[in-house]
This record gives sequence, C-alpha cells and structure tokens, in this order.
Amino acid sequence: MVLPWLGSCLHLLLLAATASAMLAAAADVGGCTPGKCGDLTVSIPFGLVSGSEENQCAQLGFQVHCIDHVPYLGYYERDVGLRILDIFVHNGSLLVSDVHKLGDFDLSGDGSRCHVPTANTATKVAHPFSISPLNQNLVFYNCTKPLAPRTARRAGLVDTACRNNTFVRAGGWYNESGGIGGGYDLEGCSAMAVTVLGATTGEVNASDYQQLISGGFLLTWQPPPTADGSGEFSR
Ligand SMILES: *[C@@H]1O[C@H](CO)[C@@H](O)[C@H](O)[C@H]1NC(C)=O
Ligand SMILES: *[C@@H]1O[C@H](CO)[C@@H](O)[C@H](O)[C@H]1NC(C)=O
Ligand SMILES: *[C@@H]1O[C@H](CO)[C@@H](O)[C@H](O)[C@H]1NC(C)=O
Ligand SMILES: *[C@@H]1O[C@H](CO)[C@@H](O)[C@H](O)[C@H]1NC(C)=O
Ligand SMILES: *[C@@H]1O[C@H](CO)[C@@H](O)[C@H](O)[C@H]1NC(C)=O
Repeated sequence: MVLPWLGSCLHLLLLAATASAMLAAAADVGGCTPGKCGDLTVSIPFGLVSGSEENQCAQLGFQVHCIDHVPYLGYYERDVGLRILDIFVHNGSLLVSDVHKLGDFDLSGDGSRCHVPTANTATKVAHPFSISPLNQNLVFYNCTKPLAPRTARRAGLVDTACRNNTFVRAGGWYNESGGIGGGYDLEGCSAMAVTVLGATTGEVNASDYQQLISGGFLLTWQPPPTADGSGEFSR
C-alpha cells in the first residue's frame, strides 16, 4: 500500500522539476523573465526587465518594468508612463493607462500647473502595438477665450478641473487615423484626443473623464506566425 503513494509523490516531484526547468529555459530566452509585478502576472511574450537588460528581451516591445510593484510597458521611454492594468494573452491585447495624462490635472498650489493633455494618445503607441477600435475618444479643448454657453451646450462640453476655458467631450469611437474627425473642431480652441476603453456599449460620459483615463485603453498586438501559418489567437 505504500508503493503507489510513493509513486505519485515521485511523480509530483518530477512534475515540479520539469516545471522549474521549463521556467528556467523561458527565463533564458533573451533575459526576459516571466513573473509577477504587483498583482499582475507577466507571462510570455511579455517579460520583466530591469534597466540594463532592456535590449535582451526576445521580442522587442514586450518588456515590462516593475517600479514599486507597478508594471509599466518598458518599450516606451520611462517618462511616457504607460501603466499596465491587465494583459490578455489569449486574444493578444492589454489594458494600459497613461499615468501622465492624469498627472496633467494637477490642482496643487495655485492651480497653474493644471493643464489639459497636450498630445493625442496615438502618438504614444508604436509597433508592435496598435490601439484597438474597441476604444473611444475623449476630446480635450484648450480655448483662447470663453465659448458662448449655447455653443458649449450644443457640443456637449464639460469643464475640466483646470477650468480656464478648457473643456472635454465624448469624441466617438477611436479611428485608426489616430486623430479626431473634422467634426470635433472648435474655433479658437486646440483639440487633443485621449483614448479610453469605457464601457463597450454606448457613449462615454465626458464628466467621468478622470475615471475613464485611469480605466485605461486597450492595445492589441499581432500574434507571431504559427506553424500552420495562420497566426490566429485562440478565441
Ligand atoms: C480580450 O479578452 C478580454 C477578456 O478576457 C476582453 O476584456 C478584451 O476586450 C479582449 N480584447 C479584444 C481585443 O477583444
Ligand atoms: C489661465 O490661463 C491664463 C492664460 O493661459 C494663465 O495666465 C493663468 O495662469 C491661468 N490660470 C490658472 C488658474 O491656471
Ligand atoms: C492652454 O494653452 C496654453 C498655450 O499653449 C497653455 O499655456 C496653457 O497652460 C493651457 N491651459 C491649460 C489649462 O491646459
Ligand atoms: C477616420 O476619421 C477621418 C477624419 O475624420 C475620416 O475621414 C475617416 O473616414 C475615418 N475613418 C474611419 C474608419 O472611421
Ligand atoms: C454624466 O455624468 C454626470 C455626472 O455624473 C451626470 O450629471 C450626467 O447626467 C451624465 N450624463 C449622461 C448623458 O448620462
């Protein structure tokens, strides 16, 4: 009666040994190590890197920097600050939040540091990632003078925390051209498009712009070609 128990115990040990050997082998692929950062499980094709290993990752673009238990997409310059909220390896997408865009609405001191975003989200995203068309736009305006209340109301503009003639409104579905359609221009105002995932149904509510920005937006990446050449993610 002892032997079957011993057998399964050995089997488990063997499994554990195989698993750790596999992990070690995976870690050897270009010095990009799967692991955990905060609550996020970083698995292949992503890997954790520290500054000096930056270029040792097998697949460029999938580096993750873990700073104070917070994962950042390391492909980008550090000061760009795309925080990873979730990774969906099964369908090749990840949810990221642009932490600097939130820092923009800084009301500390006399409020003069508060400003609306100065760049479209699309300018921060490059190969191998694309912005998913499941996202929507928020359009931020910085206007040189007050707008007529009628204009503001008709356009569905909401004051931003910075006030001072800055506004935000829902800007429709993300469009792969990256910018915002001509329909969103306002005379005397500069306009920037910030991408948010929001709810997958219906329009985003511009009043919730801070939560929407922290909620992040969805990026996708192309699957590597498979043996049969299909290059499809499992559904
Ligand atoms: C991938 O799956 C997650 C849920 O598992 C979903 O939230 C996300 O929208 C999907 N991504 C795409 C690009 O469909
Ligand atoms: C409002 O905007 C003007 C001109 O851009 C600037 O001088 C002023 O400091 C701003 N006020 C606040 C509170 O940000
Ligand atoms: C609006 O634009 C002006 C000129 O570019 C800039 O100085 C100011 O900080 C902006 N204001 C806000 C609140 O973003
Ligand atoms: C994207 O926006 C541009 C500019 O408004 C427009 O010409 C184009 O048709 C849009 N494309 C899609 C796929 O909606
Ligand atoms: C958007 O949110 C604001 C504040 O929460 C609310 O007053 C307003 O009714 C909402 N607008 C829509 C169209 O749901």
